[in-house]
Amino acid sequence: MHHFHYLKNELYCEDIPVTEIALAVGTPAYIYSHATLKRHFRAFDSAFEGMKHLTCFSMKSTSNLAILKLFASEGGGVDIVSGGELYRALKAEVEPAKIVFSGVGKKVEDLEYALESDILMFNVESSQEIIKLNEVAKRTGKKARIAVRVNPDVDPKTHPYISTGLKENKFGIDINDAPEQYILAAGLKNIDVTGVSCHIGSQLTQSSPFVDALSKLKGLIRMLEDTGITIRYLDLGGGLGITYDSEDPPLPDEYAGAISKELGTADLTLILEPGRVITGNAGILVTKVLYTKTAREKTFFIVDAAMNDLIRPSLYDSYHAVQPVRKSDRGTVTADMVGPICESGDFFAKEREMDAFEPGDLAAIMSAGAYGFSMSSNYNSRPRACEVIVNRDRFYIIRARETFEDLIRGETSPDCLI
Ligand SMILES: Cc1ncc(COP(=O)(O)O)c(C=O)c1O
Repeated sequence: MHHFHYLKNELYCEDIPVTEIALAVGTPAYIYSHATLKRHFRAFDSAFEGMKHLTCFSMKSTSNLAILKLFASEGGGVDIVSGGELYRALKAEVEPAKIVFSGVGKKVEDLEYALESDILMFNVESSQEIIKLNEVAKRTGKKARIAVRVNPDVDPKTHPYISTGLKENKFGIDINDAPEQYILAAGLKNIDVTGVSCHIGSQLTQSSPFVDALSKLKGLIRMLEDTGITIRYLDLGGGLGITYDSEDPPLPDEYAGAISKELGTADLTLILEPGRVITGNAGILVTKVLYTKTAREKTFFIVDAAMNDLIRPSLYDSYHAVQPVRKSDRGTVTADMVGPICESGDFFAKEREMDAFEPGDLAAIMSAGAYGFSMSSNYNSRPRACEVIVNRDRFYIIRARETFEDLIRGETSPDCLI
């Protein structure tokens, strides 16, 4: 459910025609619906009502301050993976006691920063990281709360690049080796063992892999209890999928129900790290058709957005629906929608039946709210798009379009090199 809809052939975001926004801010532009963001956050969070839990939005999916602030005001925390994300989270007034720090390669400076900020816990992924964290905590006079990120070897049945809980993936510690790491951590003075965590992958369309992972984690928690290690937090990561095309993932209520059933009466606080399921369908990327080209029965619509703005199709061959911002009576054609970047991988749709666009038309690339802007880059020296949020009949620019000056900020050309 989202708030992008047609009224008299015009695509609206909430109560504003998308054309009106595009005319005001230019293209390409990311447009988010405030109502959708809020609704998705609440639907997810309230699905866990009755269970002790904390929803830590995974800000790698969408990291704009305005959006983080919205979730913080709803009582949410965040899942971070870098010092930069911690900085953003604190700027967005997320409570440090609701921040969990994931990631396989945390830098010492970032460990220090997170310790100083007194975050809830570090999800540690190797024995070297545990030892390093203990050293840093000792040096700074702190005690670090940790969960060991466990790799439960469960197949999430998703794209290999976003599958993280299999033996061959670089993430976490093999569940069979985890007890040893817990014993190591429990023996360190500046480490406080508080949790178990896992994240098995992204865009999962079934509940069963989550339940299988949870079942394995429960076994581990029982084993740890037998050795005198008490676990208070169980972090199940993120990963719940959305409908991009015809996928039919479980709704948050079904997902939470399956988890609750498997969890039983265990006295644990659940931590959830949803990203995509909250923001994915709450944002679109609006782009303008620059040129159309037909050669040897193949039609291309060349648009002003590119893989630097939205890399998912190029990276994962992922599907995003392409919709006209203003429906025409020109009918449809089978075409490729491509960007201007010098890479054949720069496309949004291939051999897809879509509106017979003409130069100047606007197209909406749907379901671009997660891993869209946050994965964007300046490749081909393209300034990054602006981000806009709509609240009913008003819109706000929440990130200005980058300028050419932004592109060279920080670069210097010493005269001695010439
Ligand atoms: C540790 C961790 N938690 C949460 C997420 C969020 O996943 P999703 O956006 O699929 O909910 C990710 C995504 O890769 C992750 O790596």
